[in-house]
Amino acid sequence: MNRVHLVAHPMIQHKLTFIRDKNTGSKEFRDLVEEVAMFLAYEVTRNLPLVDCAVETPVATAQAKVIAGKKLGIIPILRAGLGMVNGMLRLIPAAKVGHIGIYRDPDTLLPVEYYVKLPSDAAERELIVVDPMLATGGSAVAAINFLKQRGAQSIKFVCLIAAPEGIDKVHRHHPEVDIFTAAVDSHLNEHAYIVPGLGDAGDRLFGTK
Ligand code: PRP
Ligand code: URA
Repeated sequence: MNRVHLVAHPMIQHKLTFIRDKNTGSKEFRDLVEEVAMFLAYEVTRNLPLVDCAVETPVATAQAKVIAGKKLGIIPILRAGLGMVNGMLRLIPAAKVGHIGIYRDPDTLLPVEYYVKLPSDAAERELIVVDPMLATGGSAVAAINFLKQRGAQSIKFVCLIAAPEGIDKVHRHHPEVDIFTAAVDSHLNEHAYIVPGLGDAGDRLFGTK
């Protein structure tokens, strides 16, 4: 589990409780997902390299640090990953955003790809794949496969809730990928929904149920 980063900050746990609540409406759900995504962005960027610099304060010269110009890319898995993009961009405004459209076939539960648009220099960027739910892991593995086929060297995965099954699958296929999550839940039910989870993330974000 050393590549699983459970981000258990009290503010995140608090907000996640309201995200899980079936009585939370779409607007509040969207706002909370965005806020938690911003907190998770803070954790996923924790080890970004810094360089020294000097800055003039009103009082004197301070020896300070700035981020060493790492190029980042945020890759939401459509649809539900879209709900995390603005929160991530609030903390990492210079990141470029690439989209991968994947849905889970309700009968086979296998991932189906339907759309891709990546930054032209995606292979040179540190990529952060975002999706609120890591359930069977099929969608995450398909997205990471796809990015690697296009030359990506550095990929992290960020979600709100992960199932043990999804973590195992991602790490069987991509053992070097760090997973950042606000919760690791109990298991998947017979429809491969995370228990207790939050239900269908895409439907709750976009009000499509
Ligand atoms: C959900 C979720 C993940 C996927 C997780 O998307 O947002 O992408 O399921 O399940 P998995 O780990 O078993 O692949 P869904 O297929 O419902 O599509 P949507 O985001 O368009 O609603
Ligand atoms: N996708 C969701 O949106 N929720 C789950 O619990 C599993 C997959």
